[in-house]
Amino acid sequence: MAVEIPDIDALKKYLEEQNLALQMEMGAGRQSKVLKPFQWKWEDIEPAVVASGKLVRLAENFEDKGGVLRRDTHFHNPRNSPNANFPLRLGIQYVGPGEQAISHRHSAQATRFVIKGSPDAYTLVNGEPFPLNDGDLVITPHLNFHGHINNSDTYVLWLDGLHGAGVGATFTEEWPEVKEALQTDRVDEAMRIWGGNLGLPGRGGEARPYHEVVHPAGPQVKNDESTIHPPAFRYPWHQTSAAFARMKQKEDEPNPFDCYTLTYRNPLTGGPTLPTAAWEMTMLVPGFKGRDHRHNSSVIYYCFQGSGVLVVEGERFEWSAGDFIELPAWMAHHHENPHQEDAFLAGWTDWPLQRLTGNFYYEEF
Ligand SMILES: [Fe+2]
Ligand SMILES: [Fe+2]
Repeated sequence: MAVEIPDIDALKKYLEEQNLALQMEMGAGRQSKVLKPFQWKWEDIEPAVVASGKLVRLAENFEDKGGVLRRDTHFHNPRNSPNANFPLRLGIQYVGPGEQAISHRHSAQATRFVIKGSPDAYTLVNGEPFPLNDGDLVITPHLNFHGHINNSDTYVLWLDGLHGAGVGATFTEEWPEVKEALQTDRVDEAMRIWGGNLGLPGRGGEARPYHEVVHPAGPQVKNDESTIHPPAFRYPWHQTSAAFARMKQKEDEPNPFDCYTLTYRNPLTGGPTLPTAAWEMTMLVPGFKGRDHRHNSSVIYYCFQGSGVLVVEGERFEWSAGDFIELPAWMAHHHENPHQEDAFLAGWTDWPLQRLTGNFYYEEF
């Protein structure tokens, strides 16, 4: 061996020159990644979101560099160490009256949970208009073109939950026309094809192959067919709330941890909403106090209706409608509803990814 490496400094220098790295377990003093729970109050969020609608303009077309393609307010958790990222992300998107967000598609999968909607506001997925009513969930799986039109006289808000953006190569492609036309004759087409995903198994039509909607001028990207991607789909709040009402009416035994919880299911497989992430809705009945538990999946909670308490490792987060809470993986927690009304928590969670990778663990106390 011709190269002399006499000491640790020389070794570090040599490693750097050769594009190598030596992993050294340092024990005490090692820089560890820290994720902590955090709560954002709606009263603090709302002014920023509303101001973004006034101060930031949506682009008219892709050459319009003075405007933005999406107006999305994100969350920054100040308690996390700088080297750690929460694995799930939500943004609050604002579309003003009469505005249209230009259509595009990308390799990340997207979901929208509607905070403040209108029957005259739509997400277009492959040209199909999905009405955005309060509490609806609309999924736009990856490679599906999607844009937004607000024909109402007030602004609309929803949560953008994206997943899979950082896996492998990513890309974005713009819709070839400047603005997509609103095809009103196709409203609720998915409901007609797939049913509400609350009926009997076997109901529904054939999966519409995604490549039918790829524009001939665009890249001819194909999905791996071993993964069953869900169709573009809307879960109306009136159906979700009716499902909870039925559980309550039938006096189903509440789960000791999560009271009544529903997963928004892939209508093709009955599995989670997306292959790697899921939306869930939890109803905490008055007086409910759940048992402590922890799991190797993370959750961002959007406090949809009512009020309650999330206790994380002894720290109490008292929430009311509109708040957001990040719950990192593997932190013991439980839910409480000390109030007189049902409380609803929407959860954006990555347990499907943990299960796919054989990395899902949980512990009950
Ligand atoms: Fe998008
Ligand atoms: Fe939990």
